[in-house]
Amino acid sequence: MRNPQVMDFLVPYVFTLFLSFPCLILLLVNLVFLVAVHGRIPTTLEGFEPEQISVSLSANHDSVWISWITGEFQIGYDIKALDPKTVSSVVRYGMVKCTLEHEAIGHSLVYNQLYPFEGLQNYTSGIIHHVRLTGLNPSTVYYYQCGDPSVQAMSDIFSFRTMPVSGPWSYPDRVAVVGDLGLTYNTTATISHIINNKPDLVLLLGDVTYANLYLTNGTGSDCYSCTFAETPIHECYQPRWDYWGRFMQNLVSKVPLMVVEGNHEIEQQAGNKAFVAYSSRFAFPSEESGSSSTFYYSFNAGGIHFVMLGAYIAYNKTADQYKWLERDLDSVDRSITPWLVATWHPPWYSSYKAHYREAECMRVAMEELLYSYGVDVVFNGHVHAYERSNRVYNYSLDPCGPVYITVGDGGNREKMAIGFADEPGNCPDPLSTPDEYMGGFCATNFTFGPAMGKFCWERQPDYSAFRESSFGHGIFEVKNETWALWTWYRNQDSYNDVGDQIYIVRQPDICPVHQSAKQHCFAAI
Ligand SMILES: *[C@@H]1O[C@H](CO)[C@@H](O)[C@H](O)[C@H]1NC(C)=O
Ligand SMILES: *[C@@H]1O[C@H](CO)[C@@H](O)[C@H](O)[C@H]1NC(C)=O
Ligand SMILES: *[C@@H]1O[C@H](CO)[C@@H](O)[C@H](O)[C@H]1NC(C)=O
Ligand SMILES: *[C@@H]1O[C@H](CO)[C@@H](O)[C@H](O)[C@H]1NC(C)=O
Ligand SMILES: *[C@@H]1O[C@H](CO)[C@@H](O)[C@H](O)[C@H]1NC(C)=O
Ligand SMILES: *[C@@H]1O[C@H](CO)[C@@H](O)[C@H](O)[C@H]1NC(C)=O
Ligand SMILES: *[C@@H]1O[C@H](CO)[C@@H](O)[C@H](O)[C@H]1NC(C)=O
Ligand SMILES: [Fe+2]
Repeated sequence: MRNPQVMDFLVPYVFTLFLSFPCLILLLVNLVFLVAVHGRIPTTLEGFEPEQISVSLSANHDSVWISWITGEFQIGYDIKALDPKTVSSVVRYGMVKCTLEHEAIGHSLVYNQLYPFEGLQNYTSGIIHHVRLTGLNPSTVYYYQCGDPSVQAMSDIFSFRTMPVSGPWSYPDRVAVVGDLGLTYNTTATISHIINNKPDLVLLLGDVTYANLYLTNGTGSDCYSCTFAETPIHECYQPRWDYWGRFMQNLVSKVPLMVVEGNHEIEQQAGNKAFVAYSSRFAFPSEESGSSSTFYYSFNAGGIHFVMLGAYIAYNKTADQYKWLERDLDSVDRSITPWLVATWHPPWYSSYKAHYREAECMRVAMEELLYSYGVDVVFNGHVHAYERSNRVYNYSLDPCGPVYITVGDGGNREKMAIGFADEPGNCPDPLSTPDEYMGGFCATNFTFGPAMGKFCWERQPDYSAFRESSFGHGIFEVKNETWALWTWYRNQDSYNDVGDQIYIVRQPDICPVHQSAKQHCFAAI
């Protein structure tokens, strides 16, 4: 038995089919008339056609997530959530385009963004679908289409390539790394540069759509703190997420996208809820990586283990995230994934004035753990500019510390970060530096080195190797067990020009890493 609501929407898809056969237009017109009289025409003919289609990785090469949205979002004063059960979540896929022999079924949901305040409009999403494909071969192109076959609402056929098998000789060719993207002309420039670089995987380090720079009536602002002063809650305009999802589909329906949350994803709403759009719209390999949260998870891409961390939830030693991170790092076998890369949104080592030492409590809580497991590279966003560090640990140059790279320069509508904290008059008052949402105060003056006794350096800090305020993105290319090429591309340059480039070289012989007790036991036997 078909659900009657699905039946209602079947009719337009019969039309769509008929559109391919001009001789049946007459019949089509008749049907339109009949349905119109009975008031059952949905807002568009494509009402349940998949949109905002994206691919993301599961924890290993043999599995990916396909996500999409069907049905219309609503915003206003009298909205009614769609019933996710009315449309099924099916992906047909295979290695040959004309015979998509496999089928996977997933789950669907809708979410709301509600404001019980006079004058603010509520939002309810379209139906969001997430389907996990399993049993995939490594480094293989798969074709897929998604949707609900029972209402003739399947997407076009797209394709993606799975990650290579994990091993010390096996890496994705190019991983694109970008942060603070938004949806502006500058975002368009960033994404077209990324597409030109033909990445195998895209990491997005938080601050995704900047929907919270818009009032619920759609009016935008360039400044987070000024526009919303008189409203009872920091509202946001959720349709920006849908616009963003539509814009990104061209890239992320083919190239897997992995996202970690930024402060612009907080999006507080009624009932003390936050991060609802972020947690609902993306698929995360949380469960697959032993995490119970969408805010932190890990995955392998060839011989690289990526750890995605949450800066806006508890991170200290007693927190679930910290315990999960210890377990996750302990389970990494560096003979299989020699490279260990960590990402989160606000940088620990940034020398810009904007957000200077803002995430210091997180650094104090987690730096030692990451260092003891030999994290090679850290990618961050948040500061709207580019900066690459020397290897550093606890503010001292250290050949075994990670290289920290900030690429918060994706092109959002807020201002670019320009001033450095070490320039005259730019050193912020320490008490002004903590982020309100993160809480805590840990940014004390330096106790050693050239900036001893002070809060800021008086020149570019030793930890800072290269910094420049331009929009762009980076490409991370691991060549082998010990060498990776990092390249920063600037939007104002022609496609293949390089803004900054360096080999990041691991030295496992001089930087022995903490290995799990279990692995030691095996080695000893
Ligand atoms: C939005 O939803 C909240 C919570 O359900 C409700 O209190 C409020 O009246 C709604 N606002 C509008 C404008 O419909
Ligand atoms: C952002 O885009 C606008 C419009 O294309 C352009 O004029 C401007 O230079 C860009 N800004 C940066 C920093 O790239
Ligand atoms: C949206 O609301 C703001 C603040 O009330 C107002 O200034 C603006 O004109 C409104 N915009 C639209 C499109 O209604
Ligand atoms: C860790 O965080 C929790 C909750 O935020 C807090 O209660 C606790 O005091 C913190 N512990 C440390 C050691 O900072
Ligand atoms: C980091 O350096 C500070 C200042 O020298 C010191 O107090 C602290 O114990 C160091 N932390 C670690 C984890 O080594
Ligand atoms: C910390 O450094 C700032 C200047 O960078 C200085 O004004 C302040 O007095 C210092 N605080 C302490 C406690 O030394
Ligand atoms: C690793 O790759 C780098 C850069 O391509 C190359 O120079 C180096 O010889 C390679 N090392 C090994 C052990 O293959
Ligand atoms: Fe941010």
